[in-house]
Amino acid sequence: MKIVLIGFMGAGKTTTGKLLAKKLELEYIDMDSMIIKKSNRSSDREIFDIDGEEIFRKLETDVSEYLKEVKNVVISTGGGVVMNEANIDCLGNNGTVIFLKNSFETSKKRISKKNPPPLFRNENKARELYDLRQQLYKKYSDITVETDNKFPKSVADEIINILN
Ligand code: S3P
Repeated sequence: MKIVLIGFMGAGKTTTGKLLAKKLELEYIDMDSMIIKKSNRSSDREIFDIDGEEIFRKLETDVSEYLKEVKNVVISTGGGVVMNEANIDCLGNNGTVIFLKNSFETSKKRISKKNPPPLFRNENKARELYDLRQQLYKKYSDITVETDNKFPKSVADEIINILN
């Protein structure tokens, strides 16, 4: 089994992914962590601020390619993974892509104000990105799960029910 979680920043991809992996006894892979390891930086913020977004996207595509053939895993992606179709071609290969859908207001509530991800620092720009990406998440996913007003545990249970 290969489960790939996509969705906007604040969708709960990491928390839900970890829970899902535990419940299904699968390995958990966090793409952002893999990207950070490859970059020798300490966070996605640092990569964006020092190297630039282009370098981050290149690493994201490298990691997607690396994950093309993996099995028995739950993969949490970064919110921008859908900006390059090649990423989804690799990640979705032999896998089920699940869109964790939430409103922009929910993302705003869930994201730390003190230390937001680089592309959530400016609210207006983040909202534009949110609008632009909704159709891509929909297009590239096999299943959509709404996460507004739900705890990650309920979302994980819902996914397990759908997959069974
Ligand atoms: C990004 C989302 C981040 C991270 C990077 C870029 C984006 O991941 O990959 O800052 O473009 O939406 P999360 O969605 O886990 O916050």
